[in-house]
Amino acid sequence: KKKIAVMTSGGDSPGMNGTVRAVVRQTIASGCVAFAVYEGYQGLVDGGDMIKHMSWEDVRGWLSEGGTLIGTARCAAFRERPGRLQAANNMIEKGIDALVICGGDGSLTGADKFRDEWPGLMDELVAKGLRSKEDVAPHQHLNIVGLVGSIDNDLSSTDATIGCYSSLGRICQMVDYIDATALSHQRAFVIEVMGRHCGWLALMAGVSCGADFVFIPENPPSENWEEEMCSIVKRHRAMGKRKTIVIVCEGAQDRKLNHITGKMVNDLLATRIGLDTRITTLGHVQRGGPPCAYDRMLSTLQGVEAVKAVLEATPETPSPVICIVENKIVRKDLMQAIQLTQQVAKDIAARDFEAAMKGRDAEFEE
Ligand code: F6P
Repeated sequence: KKKIAVMTSGGDSPGMNGTVRAVVRQTIASGCVAFAVYEGYQGLVDGGDMIKHMSWEDVRGWLSEGGTLIGTARCAAFRERPGRLQAANNMIEKGIDALVICGGDGSLTGADKFRDEWPGLMDELVAKGLRSKEDVAPHQHLNIVGLVGSIDNDLSSTDATIGCYSSLGRICQMVDYIDATALSHQRAFVIEVMGRHCGWLALMAGVSCGADFVFIPENPPSENWEEEMCSIVKRHRAMGKRKTIVIVCEGAQDRKLNHITGKMVNDLLATRIGLDTRITTLGHVQRGGPPCAYDRMLSTLQGVEAVKAVLEATPETPSPVICIVENKIVRKDLMQAIQLTQQVAKDIAARDFEAAMKGRDAEFEE
């Protein structure tokens, strides 16, 4: 019976538990044996009870739970070969040679590297006398399948990462709360949102909440953004708006790649326009809490697809990542998706915004 393990890695995101539930149950429904690796790659390196056999009942009620119930951790040991050798040894001990990982691009890249090294790790286990030839013989290839769990929606090749719509919903709810108090006092609020180097959360929150101005890393404002923002805010006030909402992505930058902070925006609104201004940094309320319906659906459908991908994989198939494109669950080449994501980041870092946007368009035309 094939043994399939599921693991969550990187920052938690709402929907990760739905993923684990779907992978465990689809594995069992397919006549295979399910395992969960606790505490991310650390659990793989530590082995023993950290790689737990999972039954159907073990994941009961997980669909609506926030965070990741099997934990996640940053693991320095797995970045070194001896750590990966230990991880491989722990997997062989349980007879596992398929791993479904839900995490961000860093975690998924690590997984693909592990797969590449796997045959060499098997030889090393035998050479060091840690495993017999018979132990490793049935496990010559490691299957890796990626699922993208992140609130940032920062992976190229998929329309939505697991967690991004829950986070967006939470941000909108928080902005609605702020709206009420802002309206009462005719105040301006600068709202800092997460997203790291990706402005999706900020941009979509701006659209969904009718913000006056939004700062995102991918499309920096004009050279004289201070003027631009102030004149737009003044115009909105002149039209009768009693409140001002400016959303700033935590990775926002100007055209010279200087960081634009909430404090800078706050000071401009206060000193140049004379608005009574406050800053709210939403922080981890954007990441915790229950998943929305979309993330429950996405994590379930993608978890099921991940197990199917494991069962259909051949040693030649490149590691897939399960994506959603135009409302269809599809498999894409994991490393290609990561390379596209990194290329956009590089273009932005090289201030080549035009190339970055073209890269994105090309990806959608694919
Ligand atoms: O990648 C998810 C994310 O929440 C980002 O939006 C944010 O920049 C980062 O993680 C925060 O990480 P930590 O919880 O480690 O501070």
